[in-house]
Amino acid sequence: MITVRGIHKTYENQPVLTGIDLQVQSGETFVILGESGAGKSVLLRQLGGLEEPDSGSILIDNEDLAQLSERELRRVRKKIGFVFQESALFDFLTVSENIVMPLYEHNMIPMREFAAKARQMMQWVHLDEEHKNKLPGKLSGGMKKRVALARTLSLSPQIILYDEPTAGLDPIGAESICRLIKRLQKEEQNTSVVVTHDLSVVDRVADQVAFLYQGRIIFTGTPQSLRQSGRNIISQFVGTRKPNTC
Ligand SMILES: Nc1ncnc2c1ncn2[C@@H]1O[C@H](COP(=O)(O)OP(=O)(O)O)[C@@H](O)[C@H]1O
Ligand SMILES: [Mg+2]
Repeated sequence: MITVRGIHKTYENQPVLTGIDLQVQSGETFVILGESGAGKSVLLRQLGGLEEPDSGSILIDNEDLAQLSERELRRVRKKIGFVFQESALFDFLTVSENIVMPLYEHNMIPMREFAAKARQMMQWVHLDEEHKNKLPGKLSGGMKKRVALARTLSLSPQIILYDEPTAGLDPIGAESICRLIKRLQKEEQNTSVVVTHDLSVVDRVADQVAFLYQGRIIFTGTPQSLRQSGRNIISQFVGTRKPNTC
C-alpha cells in the first residue's frame, strides 16, 4: 500500500506539486492522469524514493520513507520497480544483458543462471528469443518498452511505477503494454502506479484514477466516475479524447 500525504515539490521557485494526497491499495492499478507538464514524472520520482519532497510524507506499506535509515530505504526500494518513459536501456548491452543487469548489480543469482532467467523474462513479455543478442538500437519502441519491463520484473518488485508506458508507441504496441500491466496484476498481484496523459490507458488498466492539475489531485475515483466528475477541466480533457475500445 502507498500513502501520500501533503507532498510539496518546488524547483527553482517554480512550485510543481502543491499538496498531493493519495492512497494506492495493494494489488490495484492506480492511474494518475494529467496534461504534459502537470508534474506526473516528478510525482512518480517522489513515490519511488528517487527524489525527496520538500514537505509531506510517503508511506510504503506503512513505512515513512523520510524516517528510514539508508539501509532501510534500500530494503523498501527493492519492493519498487520503475519503468521509465524512455525505457532507459543501456545501448551497448544486448537485450538479454539489459534484462539481467539488475540481477548482476544486486548479485541476486549465479551468473550461470543469467541466460535462463533472461529467456524466461523475454517469454513473459512476449519477446521472441531471436532478439536476445540484439542491441536496443535495433528494436522498435514497443520492443524496447518490453525489454525495459522485463528488466524491471527480473527483480520481482511488488510495486511497479510506470512513466507514460504508451508514449511513442503505435496502438498495437500500446495495447500490448497495457495487457502486460493487467497480467502482472492478475498473475503476480502487483501494485501498479501508472502516470500518463493517455486516456486510453485509464480505460485499459485503471482500477482507480486520479487527475493531476496545477500541482494537486483534483479528482480520484473509478474510470467511470471520471467521466461524470462535473469538473470542467476534466470534461475538457476527457471530451477531447476518444476512449479506447480495444
Ligand atoms: N529536475 C527538475 N528541475 C527543474 N524543474 C523540473 C525538474 N523536473 C521537472 N521540472 C519541472 O516540473 C514541471 C513538471 O514536470 P514533469 O513532472 O516532467 O511533467 P509531466 O511528467 O507531467 O509531463 C515542468 O515544468 C518541469 O519543467
Ligand atoms: Mg513526464
